[in-house]
Amino acid sequence: MEKIDKITASFEGGALNGTLHVPGDKSISHRAVMLGAIAKGTTTISGFLAGEDCLSTIRIFSQLGVNIERSGTNVTIKSPGITGWKNPDEALDAGNSGTTARLLLGILAGSMVTAEITGDRYLCKRPMRRVTTPLTEMNAKFESDHVAGTLPLTVKGSHLKAMSYEMPIASAQVKSALLFAGFSADGTTVVTEKAVSRDHTERMLQQFGANVQTEGTSVSIVGGQSLQACNVKVPGDISSAAFFMCAAAMIPGSTITFKDLGLNPTRTGIVDVLKEMGANVSIEQEFEVEGEPYGELTVESSNLRAVEISGSLIPRLIDELPVIALLATQAKGTTIIKDAEELRVKETDRIEAVCSELQKLGASIEPTPDGMRVTGPTKLKGATLSSHGDHRLGMMAAIASLVAEGPVQIEDASSINVSYPGFFEHLNSLTRSKH
Ligand code: S3P
Repeated sequence: MEKIDKITASFEGGALNGTLHVPGDKSISHRAVMLGAIAKGTTTISGFLAGEDCLSTIRIFSQLGVNIERSGTNVTIKSPGITGWKNPDEALDAGNSGTTARLLLGILAGSMVTAEITGDRYLCKRPMRRVTTPLTEMNAKFESDHVAGTLPLTVKGSHLKAMSYEMPIASAQVKSALLFAGFSADGTTVVTEKAVSRDHTERMLQQFGANVQTEGTSVSIVGGQSLQACNVKVPGDISSAAFFMCAAAMIPGSTITFKDLGLNPTRTGIVDVLKEMGANVSIEQEFEVEGEPYGELTVESSNLRAVEISGSLIPRLIDELPVIALLATQAKGTTIIKDAEELRVKETDRIEAVCSELQKLGASIEPTPDGMRVTGPTKLKGATLSSHGDHRLGMMAAIASLVAEGPVQIEDASSINVSYPGFFEHLNSLTRSKH
């Protein structure tokens, strides 16, 4: 993949118009490879996200002895099933991907494999105890040289017992790791969340033939079931579309239509916020493919007003908060984001990083312990911004260049390839910007 270290984005004014097919959903692409590897037989995936995070997942399952072939966004997985996996020769490197590492901890805990899991310098700082602590209660075995509860960690697959667990945080990664462990455990595992996080694991387990029950904020799975290999179609990633949805909302005269977009209600908090801010958002042609809602969505520019974003809305838009903070700089009034302390343990501390980068552009934005306060509208100026090695910060900076008066330079822009290969081509197709 091309390495872009520093790019300059400048926008000559004018509206953004066009139709986009954003790349496949990152969360669903990871899960499709994982479930395809657990199931015995041949699974095919179309619309796979060929971004660096999901490619790490493919590499890891290949190391475990699963035959995986990819041609662009089509993937074919031929697996001996979880009981046929082999011990890898080398450590399993999840790169920058928290989803890969945490879900893998849950999957391997109940397998017959012993493996070391590691990651890049950002991932090796992120907390893993949120997963290893409950998994240890299920009898999972981990070894680490680190007292901090971070990667690298060695998992020794063992015989797991089911449990009921009340999650202290709303996290789809923790919920999914425990459901995967519950799949291999004796008895029924029940996971209860404070607020509902993305439910792609539950939906896809059902698609692969597993019996998974959801009741309110609790999900249960009976151990010892088997999965049936199948064909998975991945919708466009609403978290990637969100960057251009916000651009269309704040740049006068813009209209962008997104085709084949994932519209799972656990992910559409961004649509609710855009509407509440006064943006024109319409959804046409809603349909469902293999358990995941899809649709066509159009965003048109309009005058925006500030909002408060908190509570159960937060897990439904957690990854969109960097670009929502940028959007709030163009809205009238003070936008308050709270209950979002999870942002501090994402690819970077997104509360500090978003505030410090947007302040360089002249934005009126302040960090709070669990979120931020943003007052607008503010005319932004050009500056040199850093992605902090975080794909979503890199894309926020690129979208900021569309509303800033001078050029915006983005350092470490190659991090964008983690989730949105082709991002700048899409940006160019909608704008008259120069890079
Ligand atoms: C993800 C869950 C979320 C999200 C991440 C992807 C997933 O993380 O931020 O980008 O695919 O399960 P948390 O579970 O830590 O909230």
